[in-house]
Amino acid sequence: MPIHDLERELEEMSVWPVERLVQYLVKDHETFLKMELPRMQDSARKASHGPLTQFVETLNAELRGHFKTEENIVFPVLVSMEHKDPGSLQQALQYACRHMESDHQMHEKHLRLLAAFQNELQESIEKERSDSGIALINSLDDFARRMYLHMSIENRFLFQPYLKTEDQA
Ligand SMILES: [Fe+2]
Ligand SMILES: [Fe+2]
Repeated sequence: MPIHDLERELEEMSVWPVERLVQYLVKDHETFLKMELPRMQDSARKASHGPLTQFVETLNAELRGHFKTEENIVFPVLVSMEHKDPGSLQQALQYACRHMESDHQMHEKHLRLLAAFQNELQESIEKERSDSGIALINSLDDFARRMYLHMSIENRFLFQPYLKTEDQA
């Protein structure tokens, strides 16, 4: 997604209440797990790309764990705390948000690795055109764009507000 589209999308969401953001994000998790990741796995298998098939499996496990923590622990607390003084929960909230943000940094590293796979595929496709290779490139590209948007929404609107207070303290 071009940067200005991403910015426009984020701008629209900046006024959403936390509960609406969370609903959107949970639905997005479902799309990643039920559609995006299986599609990527399937394309990697069809293109007989062993290392990438393996890597997507690892990524699947990593994201499953992260999404679960967000949905079961972090999001419900953030929804219940909107417009409230966190009081004695301040530190726990900061810790949770920092933890989620550092998971995102790990996801970003993995997305860079996927981009490297994608470049490598692009080069081999230029030499010898293959439909399964093109499908794989498209699925990698789509997944990365969606993941960057997803993480930007969480970082900017859910986690940063709690981490800012920490920086100012
Ligand atoms: Fe998420
Ligand atoms: Fe996340």
